[in-house]
Amino acid sequence: MNEISAPRPNNLDAFWMPFTANRAYKGAPRMLARAEGMSYFTNDNREVLDGTAGLWCCNAGHGRREITEAIQKQAAVLDFAPTFQLGHPVAFQAAAKVAEHTPEGLDRVFFTNSGSESADTALKIALAYQRARGEAQRVRLIGRERGYHGVGFGGISVGGIGPNRKQFGAQLPYVDHLPHTHDPARNAFSRGQPATGAQFADALDNLVALHGDTIAAVIVEPLAGSTGVLVPPVGYLQRLRALCDKHGILLIYDEVITGFGRLGTFFGAERVGVAPDIMTMAKGLTNAAVPMGAVAVHDRIYRQIVDSAPAGIELFHGYTYSGHPLAAAAAVASIELHERDDLPGRARAIEGYFGDGAHSLKDLPNVIDIRDFGLVAGIELQGRAGKPTDRAVRIFHRCFDAGLLIRTTGDIIALSPPLIIEKHHIDRMFGTLADAIRAEAA
Ligand SMILES: Cc1ncc(COP(=O)(O)O)c(C=O)c1O
Repeated sequence: MNEISAPRPNNLDAFWMPFTANRAYKGAPRMLARAEGMSYFTNDNREVLDGTAGLWCCNAGHGRREITEAIQKQAAVLDFAPTFQLGHPVAFQAAAKVAEHTPEGLDRVFFTNSGSESADTALKIALAYQRARGEAQRVRLIGRERGYHGVGFGGISVGGIGPNRKQFGAQLPYVDHLPHTHDPARNAFSRGQPATGAQFADALDNLVALHGDTIAAVIVEPLAGSTGVLVPPVGYLQRLRALCDKHGILLIYDEVITGFGRLGTFFGAERVGVAPDIMTMAKGLTNAAVPMGAVAVHDRIYRQIVDSAPAGIELFHGYTYSGHPLAAAAAVASIELHERDDLPGRARAIEGYFGDGAHSLKDLPNVIDIRDFGLVAGIELQGRAGKPTDRAVRIFHRCFDAGLLIRTTGDIIALSPPLIIEKHHIDRMFGTLADAIRAEAA
């Protein structure tokens, strides 16, 4: 390790850290200096097993040479080129590569820079589509309680996580929410998809009764991650799909975390057996080596918007960095790596062992539910009376000190390791976590 790979900051003040308890962090900082394969290394060169693929994003593991080299090569050839009224080859190549893996028909790809931008882009495309097909009254967007669609105004409006909204006053008008699908009384400690809960989708009928034909789209995560891992009940997404079709409503999947192998298939849509009309993605798209997001849109939606527009620009939307050359090169390399190493297949092959590990925590103190699907697990804890999040945060610190990175949300622990994980990593992960949960029993 050299000076550059392990910089030591001497002033922590300037960086206002996102989704961070800045005061607590800066009093006791934890620095990650480098990463390789399944692990991070701290600035004092301590290994920390990555139980979260960074932030659900380094699905192929860290420091993949194929991706790094593609970025380096691209940077030397073309650092940047606009994609407004111009193009460059690698952006087209990346879009075509994405479209090879999206559900049938979703083969038009709009590039963004993040999951948040993808969510807002998807919502705007849905509204533009309804208008283009003569249904301009369809201005309403339906999200779901506990949903997370990033932090843009569109995303927080359809999102259903209270703290992400309450500081920010007015949001998008014409938004409503479906109920979430969490039903611990019936489904606690389910393995994979819970058996009951398809009926939660029927709430869409009630929203149509209330709002009539003003609903443009419904957006859901196939598996709700950020709220603390809510796995879709068997038949739930099928029912939502059927109700959307019945009422002329578009179905959008936010696949920002379920894309790129996380559920054992390239996209979550394939695993749950039902496709949306529009799909967002980010994170694993480039293995997080360069920020990039995308929205895959059904061809009929693209054609409706484009063919009905007057000559000139058809969709007044886009980002300076849509299809950025470095990101596009990283995306092509990342997807090729997923194909070559069959990362979705690897995830599928090891998910049973991973699920066994997660459910082995069942009898530990304060564990009130465990959920798993693909290479995702949520372990829900009884919070300390009057001190929500305290138990989980302390377990996070214990794990980090013992060499394991986990993620917590409320009093729920979420695990989503890189898809290259092996059995000995899984043993270590759940062993370390079990020790930390026991140590915080009081
Ligand atoms: C389902 C989902 N949508 C959107 C986002 C936002 O992505 P970003 O942080 O890249 O804006 C996330 C991030 O975790 C996510 O999980």
